[in-house]
Amino acid sequence: MRRSEEFFQLILGALFLMGFAHQPFLAWGNSQAFVGTYGINYGRIADNIPSPDEVVTLLRAAKIRNVRIYDFNHSVLQAFSGTGLDLVVGLPNGYLNDMNASQDHAMTWVKENVQAFLPNTRIRGIAIGNEVLGGGDRELWTVLFGAAKNIYNAVKELKLDDVVQITTAHSQAVFVNSYPPSSCKFSSNIAQYMKPLLEFFQEVGSPFCLNAYPFLAYMSDPSNIDINYALFQPTQGIYDQKTNLHYDNMLDAQIDAAYAALEDAGYKKMEVIVTETGWASRGDSNEAAANVSNARTYNYNLRKRLAKRKGTPLRPKNIVKAYIFALFNEYLKTGPTSERNFGLFKADGSIAYDIGFRGLQSSSATVRIRLKDLQVRLLFGSDAFVLLAASAITLILLRS
Ligand SMILES: *[C@@H]1O[C@H](CO)[C@@H](O)[C@H](O)[C@H]1NC(C)=O
Ligand SMILES: *[C@@H]1O[C@H](CO)[C@@H](O)[C@H](O)[C@H]1NC(C)=O
Ligand SMILES: *[C@@H]1O[C@H](CO)[C@@H](O)[C@H](O)[C@H]1NC(C)=O
Repeated sequence: MRRSEEFFQLILGALFLMGFAHQPFLAWGNSQAFVGTYGINYGRIADNIPSPDEVVTLLRAAKIRNVRIYDFNHSVLQAFSGTGLDLVVGLPNGYLNDMNASQDHAMTWVKENVQAFLPNTRIRGIAIGNEVLGGGDRELWTVLFGAAKNIYNAVKELKLDDVVQITTAHSQAVFVNSYPPSSCKFSSNIAQYMKPLLEFFQEVGSPFCLNAYPFLAYMSDPSNIDINYALFQPTQGIYDQKTNLHYDNMLDAQIDAAYAALEDAGYKKMEVIVTETGWASRGDSNEAAANVSNARTYNYNLRKRLAKRKGTPLRPKNIVKAYIFALFNEYLKTGPTSERNFGLFKADGSIAYDIGFRGLQSSSATVRIRLKDLQVRLLFGSDAFVLLAASAITLILLRS
């Protein structure tokens, strides 16, 4: 028993390494920031979370390759160097004014914080601000487009535009009438700022980035929304009469609401990706839905939903891609208790609840892997091996 476990671990280790090694081939020539379906937001508003190097270990063990950060911290960029992980960096809202006002500053920023780390750190995107339109600071609404444009111009001049994608993430505050999904439109107060952004993103091939929280929608109206619908649990769902489409979960409906608003604005072909979604595992007394069992259910079912690689009822061909919010609980965040408790992992690196990932602790308890898990992982590992073999053969054929 012992010996065979060790043997399995060895084989697994080899397969895992090979699985990782083949991944760069798959991404060659791909200018999209998001190549898988499951990504994660590595928020860092806490001083008690694991170091960037430990985070890399955690992400690799979890096989999460697509990562977003909200800033451009150089320790993080350095830690991701040579790891094969794909990173989207953030230009925080506080920089938008300056980047709008000065093309030179935008160029300097891109050189120092993006170009300097390429190609070893795979920076695949720059998120310009976060949830600006519809947010409280109206001056930012007026500079978002200019900042995005100047950063894009810099990236293009440096000939990085087919590696680094420019986007900006929107909250649901940019919409009105999102129920039923087909009736959704952009809110008239942000429309004049949204329009040039969409025009520009369509031109450069960037997706529409949506932060979508069934958690928040449910909490805003718990007496009329079935929690099972928000949690991807069996439920009768909703029916959209205009499109004759049925929705069995709220996230799909929220994504299709964004597609409907884009179509209404004249951007029917633009892809929607989810740049944040998640469920808090703890909340204040008026946030009853924020508990461990709901958070686990949401994040477990979400993982299954994304692994299906399926589109939504309205856009069946656009495979749903989402970055989970978030990697860690972040105790220095302000706002309600739920804000500090979205992590799949606690600040010490252990899992917040079990959805199939392993925590960071290097104690023997987590290093020892049960045989049952191993068999499952072996199957998974051998897929990676087949892919590796296939990539290698393809490369050989291409070169000969
Ligand atoms: C970058 O992150 C590291 C590690 O978390 C931290 O020690 C450092 O203070 C951060 N740097 C800046 C400029 O925020
Ligand atoms: C944003 O940039 C444009 C173009 O340079 C400029 O006309 C405008 O005044 C800037 N807005 C702000 C608020 O600085
Ligand atoms: C979590 O909240 C749900 C209601 O949203 C409730 O049914 C469930 O019992 C709660 N679970 C725990 C462990 O408190």
